[in-house]
Amino acid sequence: MFPLNKGGAPPQAHVGLPEGTVEEEFGRSGFFGRATHLYHRHAPTGWTRIEGPTRPRAMHATALVPPDHLDARGLPQPFLRNADVTLCMSRRQDAMPFWFRDADRDLVHFVHRGTGLLETDFGPLRYEPGDYLVIPRGITHRWVPDTGSEQVQLVIESATEIRLPERGMLGPHALFDPGIIRTPEPEAHEATGEFEVLIRRRGTFTSVWYPFHPLDVVAWKGDATVWQLNVRDIRPVVSPRYHLPPSVHTTFLAQNFVICSFLPRPLETGDPTALRVPFFHRNADFDEVIFYHDGNFFSRDGIRAGWVTYHPYGIHHGPHPRALANQHLKHETDEQAVMVDTRNPLEIVPEAAHVDWAEYPDTWNRQVNPA
Ligand SMILES: [Fe+2]
Repeated sequence: MFPLNKGGAPPQAHVGLPEGTVEEEFGRSGFFGRATHLYHRHAPTGWTRIEGPTRPRAMHATALVPPDHLDARGLPQPFLRNADVTLCMSRRQDAMPFWFRDADRDLVHFVHRGTGLLETDFGPLRYEPGDYLVIPRGITHRWVPDTGSEQVQLVIESATEIRLPERGMLGPHALFDPGIIRTPEPEAHEATGEFEVLIRRRGTFTSVWYPFHPLDVVAWKGDATVWQLNVRDIRPVVSPRYHLPPSVHTTFLAQNFVICSFLPRPLETGDPTALRVPFFHRNADFDEVIFYHDGNFFSRDGIRAGWVTYHPYGIHHGPHPRALANQHLKHETDEQAVMVDTRNPLEIVPEAAHVDWAEYPDTWNRQVNPA
């Protein structure tokens, strides 16, 4: 197209901002489309008040009491959803009394707290905090938490297949070597009795009963299975002189949404004029959800582990004033967070509305005016 430069903007994004300004990236298609960098005298989050539903949200998601917390037959509690993806919390205490097969959705479980065993057609996988467990639709499985282990999982239900992103010029072994992905070994059960397989299809539930254990596979081969990846095995891409876009932290892709992992990494210490905090943006084409797993969430005042922020397209977000002012004192970040960016708008599930923190938009209220 035709990149323009009006008013003397710096030629390199995120570096050497004009004196007394903050930078906004106005871009299409997430961080991949046409974009313009705007140098504002004031942070675009410096509003005095917001009237209407389009506002930054913060949700104390782990305060939800999902049906699976109260009853072993219960399932996770959805809190944000659209036709492509549903985000749920699971706090299952007791083993599923059935084997579950979701025929509607590919499932990604992110383990925030707790250890246990995931039984599947393909064999069992032990899980621990920081694990992603990817369960393609149609796989029969059962969650068996360890006794006395407090369980909290973020569950991402996808209408389409979960895939890994292309690595492009990073090469196939960057971020994590696919060789590090764990898959189960077959473990055939021989028990007899009466066994229930619960199938969810088009939102309805069907129980299928067997006189033998439903997990009876003695061998398997192929490339469709359940798989597991821990965030400690992800090696983030960084640049000491340039604030890379969040898209470099993409872990999984599906149709109309991505899942990214923000992990401990050094900040941009190689150039004193390089941004070390995210630039402001108004998400022209994506809604953005972040689940805070662990560490110190430098750029978000007031947010703790187990919380979710939800920044809908159309209204700005960016670093809080304190993070913006203190960015050059920070040399690394120890934050661990999972981001889900959706191409289509999300809605807050009514049952989750009570964990929405109404004052969150006010957390930017202190005026940011570097001039
Ligand atoms: Fe963002």
